[in-house]
Amino acid sequence: MTTNTYRIQDERIQQTLNRMHREASSQGMTIIKGLSKGVFRKLRPEDMKDAYIAISRNQGQYIHKLLVQRKAKNIVEFGASFGISTLYLGAAAKATGGQVISTELLPEKCAVAQANIDEAGLESYIDLREGDALETLKECPDGIDFLLLDGWNDLYLPLLKLLEPRFKKGTLIYTDNASFRSARPFLEYIHNHPEKYRSRRVADEKGGSELTEYLGAI
Ligand SMILES: C[S@@+](CC[C@H](N)C(=O)[O-])C[C@H]1O[C@@H](n2cnc3c(N)ncnc32)[C@H](O)[C@@H]1O
Repeated sequence: MTTNTYRIQDERIQQTLNRMHREASSQGMTIIKGLSKGVFRKLRPEDMKDAYIAISRNQGQYIHKLLVQRKAKNIVEFGASFGISTLYLGAAAKATGGQVISTELLPEKCAVAQANIDEAGLESYIDLREGDALETLKECPDGIDFLLLDGWNDLYLPLLKLLEPRFKKGTLIYTDNASFRSARPFLEYIHNHPEKYRSRRVADEKGGSELTEYLGAI
């Protein structure tokens, strides 16, 4: 995935993303502090309330390019955090004439993500929903072109099952942190249903990313 020279051809979006990536890359201590709360108990979203824990620039550029090439219009995201990935999706939607539905559990993070979306000028392309994805994504249009899974990994499988009736032949699912233990039930389901899903690893950086294609209902 060598896309380092790739730029989003919209200065307002690119400048906002540059600032956000800079902020995210200086959060080493914030992340360690958050993760330390998960040493003796399961990590909770609130433990990471100040942390971006975002996709990398490479991942964002890869996703943006893929969506533009595929002319993806109906785009859904689980886990906005402060909105880095959401801005890549929104930039793609602006280029394809599409729409993004994204969701974030924590109200504080949602407010910052919305401010970042506004700063990038993408408010008319992104519907950011505050709350638990299992509720907020119940209402989504049919024929999803692209789904980004980047929230709490143990929800990947329930969310896939929730959204599966909205998939169409060729729907793409990009799963971040696919190597994490809590993502295993999701991967097992995908790999145990080769008649429905074709899947491959597309990045090993961070927690590993998987790109999955829905082959259609049988
Ligand atoms: C890894 S971060 C997302 C990073 C973001 N995609 C980016 O690249 O900038 C995961 C986010 O999912 C959110 N989250 C966790 N459980 C959730 C749920 N049930 N519904 C919606 N969001 C959730 C967390 O609060 C956290 O901000």
